[in-house]
Amino acid sequence: MSNQSRDAEYTMGRSESETERLIEQSQLYDGVTRRFFLRSGIANGMKVLDVGSGAGDVALTLAEFVGPKGNVVGVDVNPDILKTAQDRVDAVGFTNVEFISGDIRTLDLPNDFDAVVGRLVLMYMADPADALRYLATRLRPGGIVAFQEVDFTPYTAALHPDTPLANQLIEWGRTVFERSGAHLEMGMDLYKAFVDAGLPEPTLHFEAPMGGHEDWPGYEYLANSFRSLVPLMEAYGIATADELDVDTLAGRIQAEVSASKRPIMLPPHITGYASLAS
Ligand SMILES: C[S@@+](CC[C@H](N)C(=O)[O-])C[C@H]1O[C@@H](n2cnc3c(N)ncnc32)[C@H](O)[C@@H]1O
Repeated sequence: MSNQSRDAEYTMGRSESETERLIEQSQLYDGVTRRFFLRSGIANGMKVLDVGSGAGDVALTLAEFVGPKGNVVGVDVNPDILKTAQDRVDAVGFTNVEFISGDIRTLDLPNDFDAVVGRLVLMYMADPADALRYLATRLRPGGIVAFQEVDFTPYTAALHPDTPLANQLIEWGRTVFERSGAHLEMGMDLYKAFVDAGLPEPTLHFEAPMGGHEDWPGYEYLANSFRSLVPLMEAYGIATADELDVDTLAGRIQAEVSASKRPIMLPPHITGYASLAS
């Protein structure tokens, strides 16, 4: 993990279709996140800080875990997406979830949280260890630090169909994230970030959804991910919208998987958690 002088440009952009993609992504990784919360000890009655709430999916799941006696504070630097998050929380009638707009590293937050949680957010920060160091100061003694982050390293090395379109997409995807300044190996680097932040060594797990059957929603999700990436890919001169042809992309990936009989894996997520000393 390289600590950088500046944050990554938000690689996926800020469009309405990107908000929809985040919700789609959350459905595909829902099991990963729920198992992670169970293992890390997020429980009934807790007060939890959700870092980089996006469209509110993590906060919604946390609200289920902490129940009506607990509460969730979600923070995002993008005030527009928090409107969607708030609407979704209101639609299911949770009254114990609050969203605050701002940069998590500079907001003046209470210091009595039972847990601080984040999914796919440290990867956009210039210095993830520095962010964790600050976030740990927002916890009560014995509080939990729990982060779920993507990792493109093992993905690229082995675990994909090794077919022409999949190989091209992985290369384009990696390049655009790299150019934007995002940490491509944030999952594997969670261990280092925790230790450099002075936190206990985290307990880690690795998981990724895979698909092969015709109606797997992951094909559409992959295509929509590239839909969000098109503006930066064009700006960086990596590929054009015509080359990507996102409207036909899901079908083309599915056809390649069917023909090769090799399932495709979505980017793996690594989860890491640790508890502070009591
Ligand atoms: C990929 S989205 C993930 C959203 C959500 N955690 C999920 O998994 O569905 C990352 C979010 O983190 C937010 N973010 C990035 N850096 C942030 C920071 N320093 N403080 C607060 N939010 C941040 C972005 O605005 C974006 O909405």
